[in-house]
Amino acid sequence: MTSLFVDGVVLSLLLLAFAAAPTAEAAVSAHNGYNASLPLPSSATLAGCQRNCGNLTFDYPFGIGSQRCFRDPDFKLICSNDTTQTPRLFLNDGITEVVDDGFDITSNFIYISFSYSIPMISGVNEYNKSWKAPGRHFALEYTFLNITGCDFDAYQLLDQDTSPMLLCAVTCPNKEITETVARHDCNGTGCCSVLVPDAGNSFQLKFVRKEKGRVEHGEDDPSRSSLWDRINVTTVFGFMTWSMLDQSTCASTLVNNTNYACISNNSRCYNDYSFSRGYNCRCINGYEGNPYLLDGCKRDQGYNPFPKANCSQQCGNISVPFPFGLEEGCSARKLFLLNCTNMSTSSLQLNDEYLVTYINVSEGLVGIEDTSYYKQQMYGVMIPNEPELYIGSGESASMQWAVANLTCHEAQQNKSGYACVSNNSSCLGINSTRGYIGYRCKCMPGFQGNPYIPNGCQGLLLRTQRHSINIFTF
Ligand SMILES: *[C@@H]1O[C@H](CO)[C@@H](O)[C@H](O)[C@H]1NC(C)=O
Ligand SMILES: *[C@@H]1O[C@H](CO)[C@@H](O)[C@H](O)[C@H]1NC(C)=O
Ligand SMILES: *[C@@H]1O[C@H](CO)[C@@H](O)[C@H](O)[C@H]1NC(C)=O
Ligand SMILES: *[C@@H]1O[C@H](CO)[C@@H](O)[C@H](O)[C@H]1NC(C)=O
Ligand SMILES: *[C@@H]1O[C@H](CO)[C@@H](O)[C@H](O)[C@H]1NC(C)=O
Ligand SMILES: *[C@@H]1O[C@H](CO)[C@@H](O)[C@H](O)[C@H]1NC(C)=O
Ligand SMILES: *[C@@H]1O[C@H](CO)[C@@H](O)[C@H](O)[C@H]1NC(C)=O
Ligand SMILES: *[C@@H]1O[C@H](CO)[C@@H](O)[C@H](O)[C@H]1NC(C)=O
Ligand SMILES: *[C@@H]1O[C@H](CO)[C@@H](O)[C@H](O)[C@H]1NC(C)=O
Ligand SMILES: *[C@@H]1O[C@H](CO)[C@@H](O)[C@H](O)[C@H]1NC(C)=O
Ligand SMILES: *[C@@H]1O[C@H](CO)[C@@H](O)[C@H](O)[C@H]1NC(C)=O
Ligand SMILES: *[C@@H]1O[C@H](CO)[C@@H](O)[C@H](O)[C@H]1NC(C)=O
Repeated sequence: MTSLFVDGVVLSLLLLAFAAAPTAEAAVSAHNGYNASLPLPSSATLAGCQRNCGNLTFDYPFGIGSQRCFRDPDFKLICSNDTTQTPRLFLNDGITEVVDDGFDITSNFIYISFSYSIPMISGVNEYNKSWKAPGRHFALEYTFLNITGCDFDAYQLLDQDTSPMLLCAVTCPNKEITETVARHDCNGTGCCSVLVPDAGNSFQLKFVRKEKGRVEHGEDDPSRSSLWDRINVTTVFGFMTWSMLDQSTCASTLVNNTNYACISNNSRCYNDYSFSRGYNCRCINGYEGNPYLLDGCKRDQGYNPFPKANCSQQCGNISVPFPFGLEEGCSARKLFLLNCTNMSTSSLQLNDEYLVTYINVSEGLVGIEDTSYYKQQMYGVMIPNEPELYIGSGESASMQWAVANLTCHEAQQNKSGYACVSNNSSCLGINSTRGYIGYRCKCMPGFQGNPYIPNGCQGLLLRTQRHSINIFTF
């Protein structure tokens, strides 16, 4: 059933009411291509659907290929399959390219780029060019454009009653200026930069060529640069939002949930904040995954207790025991993947901002040093009318860690993801002032070592005995 936590009683009643409506009608009223006669999407119905293009990944409601792989034709993606270069991912118009791994299903932003080329025609001085979002589910939040060409003014056409707004003017005092040079500064000489804010679903540009430059630098002049032959519009930076439009608000999905998109248990509806049209889905706090799939929102499944073989466990004189690791496949989760940037100085990095100074597996502690710019300002003890004599480097802290945001009970249900794999280890819940953080493992009393690896917890007694035997034999 759908997310019930708004008001369980009311929603159940509504569902009953709609269950009485003939299902055939739902199938016929397939809105905007959403095919209501297909089964509700789940990891099973999406089996075999392509999930990446080059190094970009994506997920339902976006998809490639068969209709069951995406929610609506608007969300159909195109992966360019040109063997000579890395594949590129486009939205359904084949023009708007998805760039960066901006495809994060938990946000409704996509970073995009597109470009247009407008050939200049002899005797024509005015050119219109419009950009339309690739479907009504999309809206352009903003774009930063570089426009190259020679001797023109660029305008944005607003509505019928408003006169066009001048965006920028471009001149080419030197007729040989190349595109590469012009683009470098993009300062009005052969190129100009403009920000198109809040474009919504479309925007329209108008370019007016000036007679003067065209006459001075005759069309047949062979030394004239190709900048005179066309106006290129390219995005430097652009991002778009997308939303579900079967209903215009979360409130109305409660009244008519025929095509409600937030179908996962533990998912929730959010109104689209930027354009006040439609809604999006998220997993509720404590859950992650894809709220648009029946079984999409899951508890933390990020822990993998099985590292690959021959993982290095030392960074200079800092030991890096599992669940931490120095290579992909060597750490139990992404968060525990560290980078030994310098063996000789024991420089162990946790992303760009933090250094790890030690890892203590039995106490669940890690030493973190904040290397960011702000560290100096953040710490200090100030007592009124006293000089500031407490000087801490301030950037070091001992931090507790947990391995997954699960209760011990939950963690033990799923043996293949359970961290406490050693004999004689046990699970421990970690609380903080911010609430429950998750669980970690520890060796049982009388045992010592690493509870995260098989046979990691060793009997204290046994070890002392071995030790004395060693001494004996020597
Ligand atoms: C909807 O999906 C069903 C089942 O796959 C298919 O038979 C039907 O043709 C589809 N309808 C439309 C309008 O695409
Ligand atoms: C994807 O590949 C391109 C080109 O190979 C590279 O520039 C880009 O940084 C890669 N992106 C990610 C997220 O790895
Ligand atoms: C790309 O095209 C080639 C040849 O047409 C095909 O064999 C291959 O499966 C295609 N790859 C993708 C990812 O579509
Ligand atoms: C401008 O557009 C043309 C045609 O698409 C293309 O060949 C040229 O490389 C573009 N110039 C730049 C600098 O992108
Ligand atoms: C450009 O668009 C405007 C407004 O829609 C229109 O008035 C004008 O005639 C168009 N110009 C050309 C050259 O199409
Ligand atoms: C603008 O850039 C061009 C080269 O792209 C350069 O020659 C020119 O001096 C620059 N103008 C200003 C005002 O910075
Ligand atoms: C776009 O213009 C900016 C200056 O506004 C310039 O720094 C940048 O290199 C240009 N980028 C492209 C891709 O043309
Ligand atoms: C419910 O919403 C769908 C669009 O998602 C619409 O086609 C249908 O007519 C609506 N049903 C009712 C009873 O209003
Ligand atoms: C862990 O999950 C709970 C829900 O069980 C959630 O309330 C909490 O915010 C989560 N804690 C962290 C640190 O993500
Ligand atoms: C959703 O939750 C209900 C009640 O907890 C459960 O019966 C159902 O199996 C769950 N559905 C899925 C797809 O996990
Ligand atoms: C580790 O750090 C080095 C040096 O800063 C960097 O070149 C490398 O890409 C980093 N590796 C990973 C996996 O982040
Ligand atoms: C964590 O805190 C919650 C309430 O704040 C409490 O119910 C729970 O027993 C605590 N767990 C542990 C392991 O201390």
